Amino acid sequence: MSKKGLFFNSECRALIIGSTGAIGSAIVEILKNKIGSENVVTISRRKNGLDFMKPETIELRAKEQNGYFNFILDATGALEISNVGPEKSLRSLDHERMVNQFTVNAIGPAMLIKHFMKFLPRNGKAVFASLSARVGSVEDNQLGGWISYRASKAALNQIIKTASIEASRINPHSVFISIHPGTVRSKLTEQYLRNHKFVEPSEAARNILQVIEQKGSQDTGGFYAFDGKRIPY
Ligand SMILES: NC(=O)c1ccc[n+]([C@@H]2O[C@H](COP(=O)([O-])OP(=O)(O)OC[C@H]3O[C@@H](n4cnc5c(N)ncnc54)[C@H](OP(=O)(O)O)[C@@H]3O)[C@@H](O)[C@H]2O)c1
Repeated sequence: MSKKGLFFNSECRALIIGSTGAIGSAIVEILKNKIGSENVVTISRRKNGLDFMKPETIELRAKEQNGYFNFILDATGALEISNVGPEKSLRSLDHERMVNQFTVNAIGPAMLIKHFMKFLPRNGKAVFASLSARVGSVEDNQLGGWISYRASKAALNQIIKTASIEASRINPHSVFISIHPGTVRSKLTEQYLRNHKFVEPSEAARNILQVIEQKGSQDTGGFYAFDGKRIPY
């Protein structure tokens, strides 16, 4: 198929933050094939020291970048932090645990937007996508539990929605979206998969890139699943 008209073509430059994660690294591999290795820039905690627990590292990494990125993906996130897993009940709520969850899953991505959105072009399709989670949907919450993780992902969705409005004033073709990747085999899920159906990171990565290819400015601010369907906030 001709690459003409596709968002992911040889003129697209992409920045993947959280490129060491299962989903982030699978996306990097596919993108290198689609748009060329020279057009894919990666940042992570492990390789570049971008750590949401040390907010100054976010601005430092941004200052090292040059040029533009048509596509910025935030593939970071955590369910267990410092070996502490998600809460099962209100009784186990803990101040520090909640602060950490919000720091990694909501405040960190918000700071990414603050420091990296200036690299998005002011003309044409320009995408900032963040990996969220269906459990962050308030309307879809059937089971309860995982309070901090759920709430931090709900906050992330609100941050993306709010940012999308400001970004549209700068570039009416910008697309700011949150994406639920599905249940994917990764370090984040290894303790929790049990009898759940899951996909490999490569499949999740293909799905996510297809969603990005398909979405346009009319979809900005939305929360979407790996199949492109809208998830209620
Ligand atoms: N896997 C699933 O089934 C699933 C389902 C729903 C939503 N999600 C979401 O998808 C995203 C990616 O998940 P994954 O399964 O690929 O997880 P993963 O393999 O554990 O990758 C997590 C990524 O986040 C980075 N990270 C963690 N804490 C960080 C911090 N304090 N500062 C900066 N970076 C940090 C990690 O960096 P280092 O490796 O360099 O430390 C890694 O690159 C997450 O937002 C997750 O909530 C996943």
